Amino acid sequence: MSFALADLAVPLVGAPMAGGPGTPELAAAVSNAGGLGFVAAGYLSAQRLADDLRAARAAGTGPVGVNLFVPQPSVAQPAELQRYRDALVPEAVRYGVELGPARWDDDGWAEKLEAVADLRPEAVSFTFALPDRLVLQRLRELGIYTLMTVTKAAEAEAAVAQGIDALVVQGPEAGGHRGSWDPVERPAAQPLGELVAAVRRVVEVPMVAAGGLGTVAAVAAVLDRGADAAQLGTALLLSDEAGTNAVHRAALTSAQFTETAVTRVFSGRYARGLRNEFLRRFDDTAPAGYPEVHHMAAPLRRAAVAAGDPDWTNLWAGTAFATAMRGPAAAVLAALTP
Ligand SMILES: Cc1cc2nc3c(=O)[nH]c(=O)nc-3n(C[C@H](O)[C@H](O)[C@H](O)COP(=O)(O)O)c2cc1C
Repeated sequence: MSFALADLAVPLVGAPMAGGPGTPELAAAVSNAGGLGFVAAGYLSAQRLADDLRAARAAGTGPVGVNLFVPQPSVAQPAELQRYRDALVPEAVRYGVELGPARWDDDGWAEKLEAVADLRPEAVSFTFALPDRLVLQRLRELGIYTLMTVTKAAEAEAAVAQGIDALVVQGPEAGGHRGSWDPVERPAAQPLGELVAAVRRVVEVPMVAAGGLGTVAAVAAVLDRGADAAQLGTALLLSDEAGTNAVHRAALTSAQFTETAVTRVFSGRYARGLRNEFLRRFDDTAPAGYPEVHHMAAPLRRAAVAAGDPDWTNLWAGTAFATAMRGPAAAVLAALTP
């Protein structure tokens, strides 16, 4: 194996951020600054993933990882999906769009695995579910370092037993989707610092801490509690190289949005974002069902972005969003390096 977390010049990981914010330029900038940059494969075609990984490599000199969504069996209940669709229709009508089909898919899992096997990024991280042992074995044989996102100590133990090389320990402060393996249960609320310490007590593999890290003191604190590196998502959302759309960028610094919440209104899976009108109106009624709800709500979210309206799209943000800085990603990393 050629890459290991301990080799990083700077103990920082640029979080994979699917859906636009993560770009090859951002991955390359993080990696050039001495951290580990990630290409987020979620929602992309396998071809586009391959293109993005090649672009990140071409623009950078350091290690680059790829993050994959691991498919799970459908948990959506048709009657609940229909009820939610009925509730969202008036909002879609206001934008003159039709809601999408509530379809399940596997996000191109097999094709994306082939792409990473071909292109061999230094690292591959997984979220949502634990991949098969044979998948991990294959990547290891190719010299690819594997990381699994976990949100509680029991997941950490299971990932290590499956043969993972390292963990991304994600706390409840994190922006975007929770990587909890149970797609229905409300995710665990143990704060990141405690979670890192709890995971460190049960497993020995290297560990990246993620969630709400927006100051150098917060980064130093998770390293002190046993993490080998810290993963930054929200802290990079306003950086020059991020592909964060203009509506999302503006919302992150607007006095209109003062807090975040964990909700499944946007995608059918729990995720943290700025508390906007969509979240306030539908948090009580949105059913479990990823990716069905994601596909259903996508046209509404897209139309809101096109219209410049922050109230009807997902504005992923971690609890530390108020400290996010503008400027080059390298400057963000420099400011957050203990
Ligand atoms: C906009 C956005 C998109 C994200 N997309 C992904 C993703 O594609 N895959 C993943 O494993 N995590 C994703 N995450 C979660 C991050 O990996 C990480 O856990 C989180 O950003 C850490 O919390 P922070 O945002 O407070 O730094 C995303 C987070 C954000 C903010």
